[in-house]
Amino acid sequence: MRIVLLGAPGSGKGTQAKLLVKAFGIPHISTGDLLRNAIAQKTSLGLEAKAIMDAGELVSDDIVLGMLKQRMQEDDARKGFILDGFPRNLPQAEMLENLLKELDQPLQFAVLIEVDEEEVVNRIAIRAREENRSDDTEAVVRNRIHVYREQTAPVAQFYQDKGLLSEVSGQGDIEAVHQRILALMRF
Ligand code: AP5
Ligand code: MG
Repeated sequence: MRIVLLGAPGSGKGTQAKLLVKAFGIPHISTGDLLRNAIAQKTSLGLEAKAIMDAGELVSDDIVLGMLKQRMQEDDARKGFILDGFPRNLPQAEMLENLLKELDQPLQFAVLIEVDEEEVVNRIAIRAREENRSDDTEAVVRNRIHVYREQTAPVAQFYQDKGLLSEVSGQGDIEAVHQRILALMRF
């Protein structure tokens, strides 16, 4: 199964990806997690990315694509993958298309998880108290939502045009959203 999860910050991409890992036994590849690992390991890419992430802007396509390519070529990704946080703009969507062509692994599903903005801001406020993500302050979350609308939302149309897009409500409890996503994949 080869899946891209799309949705605003806090829409539940990471949460739903973890449930899909259990359901399908394929890896969860999150470019946000790859970047946070690079920061934790203090690599030069991580150092370059940190200020950009802390402002809620997008890290350069070259950095993110380099990390993604490396991860996609690991053995476990041959069975399929759940991409979370990539592609984030139209150039990245084109890059992914080319990469998957090279790997002979065309995408099967793009799932857009839809959640109201106020719900998203609430969820991230709760997470900010529990975890320690430096981009989870209210001002940065508002900017992440703005960047999502400007740059990432058009990616849904990109997949719609290819007949790969499904939309699912991300409101309600986590298990209910999971069941909605599974139902899409049965058809
Ligand atoms: P990234 O890590 O991708 O963050 P994001 O898109 O802002 O999304 P989040 O991780 O905040 O939300 P999520 O949708 O995963 O929701 P979650 O499941 O955690 O990116 C971070 C930064 O890295 C970017 O701003 C950018 O700088 C950079 N970056 C990453 N990828 C990039 C790329 N491709 N190109 C350029 N730059 C890139 O859920 C949120 C919270 O809600 C959790 O606490 C969860 O427990 C809770 N929750 C989930 N579902 C429910 C539910 N149904 N009901 C109640 N609570 C729920
Ligand atoms: Mg996430």
